Amino acid sequence: MPLSIAHVPTDRPERYLKQLVSHLGHKISATVDAEGLGTVTLDSGARCVLTARPGELELSAAAADAEQLMRVQDVVARHLVRFATQEELTVEWAAPVDGGELEAVHPLVGGYVLRHSTPADQVLSELAERTREVTGQAAWMQVSADEGALLTMLVQMLGAKYAVEVGVFTGYSSLCIARGLGEGGRLLACDTSAEWTAVGQEYWERAGVADRIDLRIAPALDTLRALPDEPHIDIAFIDADKQSYPAYYEEILRRLRPGGVIVLDNVLLGGRSLDPAYQQEQHLAMRGLNEFIAADDRVDAVMLSVRDGVTLARKR
Ligand SMILES: C[S@@+](CC[C@H](N)C(=O)[O-])C[C@H]1O[C@@H](n2cnc3c(N)ncnc32)[C@H](O)[C@@H]1O
Repeated sequence: MPLSIAHVPTDRPERYLKQLVSHLGHKISATVDAEGLGTVTLDSGARCVLTARPGELELSAAAADAEQLMRVQDVVARHLVRFATQEELTVEWAAPVDGGELEAVHPLVGGYVLRHSTPADQVLSELAERTREVTGQAAWMQVSADEGALLTMLVQMLGAKYAVEVGVFTGYSSLCIARGLGEGGRLLACDTSAEWTAVGQEYWERAGVADRIDLRIAPALDTLRALPDEPHIDIAFIDADKQSYPAYYEEILRRLRPGGVIVLDNVLLGGRSLDPAYQQEQHLAMRGLNEFIAADDRVDAVMLSVRDGVTLARKR
């Protein structure tokens, strides 16, 4: 539960933000970035991000446990109140929340978004239904219709001819990508499960894209490392084992043509990426990669709050 937010009403949000960062910067890590966002980080790693908004200073704190959260909340709030000599500031922190219980997109909004994107056609709908029958609980892994439509559109907009997918499952996203490629395009589709991927093949045939898809049953890293080490990939979709995302990203980026795009799924991990209390291998890998990509000068990146979070990284 170590995430918390406070909205501090004030007419001088920028001034307090700068004052606080400048003062705390003598003792601990405190910075202001180019967008004016302040960040205060304690030695424990507990962190508070300060955002100046019209009429308020927003404080957003994150820590590995409740005790460290209270500590960073206290440091920031105490100094703010002390700096405000001309007004009485009140810092009221919202009750701490668990990142794993955050809803990145409210279900009502998610439903509305789904209903206002191109719907799945009959082949995709039947593939989704078959996936539920055959894989049961695992069917949640499949991309949703709106995310599938996004993939098709990105492939089309890029005029992509060569695509790579890491994580096929029953082939829904593969079908969406292959459709966007058009005649003569190729999709290298990587997965370790012959059983799950077999489900998709009948639907790839029916959609008329089976001859564009080169399915490789092997650990994706082996498949990627065997590709020519030159920029030939137009678009890649990463949606497999989360702890390997950093390695997939690097192997693909070095083979991506300038202007090509890497699409990474599940970058929010159901809110766990935001919450330092989650420390398993996949949380650390995704959290680290999200930070890394945002600062990676080889790409321009946009993180979209589509479903469980989708990052687009376009090679410069
Ligand atoms: C989230 S599912 C992919 C869902 C798929 N994109 C879709 O829309 O239906 C993740 C897939 O990654 C595969 N996977 C896990 N580890 C892998 C690895 N090391 N190499 C290749 N595939 C892997 C799993 O077998 C599984 O099918």
